[in-house]
Amino acid sequence: MSSKKALPISGTLTVMVIVVVLVPSALLDPTAEFEAAFLKKCVEFPEDKNTCKATLAIFEEAYVGKKKTAVTEDSYNKLFDKTPFKHPCGETMLYSGIDRVKTTDVVHRFTKKTGSYFTLEDTLLGHVLDGLIWCGKEGSKETFTEHCTDTMPNPYISFWIMASVKVAQYACGHVTVMLDGEREQPYYDKSVFATHEVPNLQSPEVKNLVVILVVGQKDDTKCNKESLKNLSNILKGKKIGYACKEVTLAHIEECIKEGKGVCW
Ligand code: APR
Repeated sequence: MSSKKALPISGTLTVMVIVVVLVPSALLDPTAEFEAAFLKKCVEFPEDKNTCKATLAIFEEAYVGKKKTAVTEDSYNKLFDKTPFKHPCGETMLYSGIDRVKTTDVVHRFTKKTGSYFTLEDTLLGHVLDGLIWCGKEGSKETFTEHCTDTMPNPYISFWIMASVKVAQYACGHVTVMLDGEREQPYYDKSVFATHEVPNLQSPEVKNLVVILVVGQKDDTKCNKESLKNLSNILKGKKIGYACKEVTLAHIEECIKEGKGVCW
């Protein structure tokens, strides 16, 4: 289409192409994009706002320039040492098998809306890294965000395992865990809760573990499931008390709606 308006249009197009191609190319640089996402979520924690850049630098030390399989749980030791948890240790909320589709993330909606209890994702590092993927490469200073989880171990899984270990070690007093009472095994021995959190609960700091068993209909039988007996025995061996309470999903939803933190 060669009309007299062609020139100004192509001029406009050139500007648009420059804007569209050049500006987002900065945004599409995975390192810049990752760092921006990290910092954006970090400053949502007002008391940590001024140390976000330093925290990002310590975080990157764990994996930048390393091959994926070289990043182990211990690679994050310095990060967790320099970024201690700040929530009340007696308000720790663990969870497992709370199917994100069926209950649309009920545990996180509950802690966020009511402000009572803290899951890992309510702590600074858990919040910042939830939903992000990252890895490095030998001889590179960049952060990559694709093909990061196709090896074992990898920087992503190593972080979440260490975070689970640390949050369990930090817990004290009456620790709560939300489990799905509709599953055959609400306490599932291959879950991160079973493999990395229960073994790291510290006695005598942790007095007991309170299972909030989320059910469709309350019938006061689901706490008797075999897998929960296993959990209770494991805790007994660790000299940690155990309690289990059936709570309907509808009741928790009501508490979320009303912002009621004392829900069971
Ligand atoms: N039965 C079958 N599958 C289960 C069960 C179960 N009872 N529990 C968990 N799973 C499966 C889930 O379907 C999912 O695919 O294990 C996978 C991970 O489940 P999560 O709900 O993330 O539970 P878990 O592995 O225990 O990790 C959660 O670790 O992130 C930390 O502090 C956090 O306490 C939390 C725990």
